[in-house]
Amino acid sequence: MKKTKSTHFGYGRKPIAERSRAKFAKIILMSLAMGLSPWLVSCKDSNQTGDGPLIPQKEYSIGNAREWTEIEKEHAPTAKRSVHEGKPSVIVEVPLKNADQGHYIEKIGIMDMQGKELAVTTIKRERNPLTYAYFDIKLLPWSGKVKVFAKCNNHDLWVTEVRVSDLGV
Ligand SMILES: [Fe+2]
Repeated sequence: MKKTKSTHFGYGRKPIAERSRAKFAKIILMSLAMGLSPWLVSCKDSNQTGDGPLIPQKEYSIGNAREWTEIEKEHAPTAKRSVHEGKPSVIVEVPLKNADQGHYIEKIGIMDMQGKELAVTTIKRERNPLTYAYFDIKLLPWSGKVKVFAKCNNHDLWVTEVRVSDLGV
């Protein structure tokens, strides 16, 4: 019994120098992990806590306007059935007041619910820029919903979900 114990300690363990190196490496790794973890957490949460610059949301809408809550009603697009150049159309409008060269809607369009663009119009930057666009009704799917969208040069991308049956499709 005594001999077995002695053999275990004599041959089973690593030399002292190697054990010390391993222990030292473990301490260094733990210190690094402890030192880095607050930094990693703060990076991950910088958009949520307000400590750093806000990262724009992919989409804004009425009820999901976060930092743009005060201006949501001027940016969320609306859609209704219309006629343009004699053809059945959808007009997508943005109720932005006083649009000008410094603050205007760059793009207006329609996307499917997965975010694929079905139609888009780029608006010219000018003194009195347009805040609406017409789209051929044939570009819409036969059923379900779409998102009409408007991209403001200052205030990100705005969407409104619309049921195509409400547009007379
Ligand atoms: Fe804007």
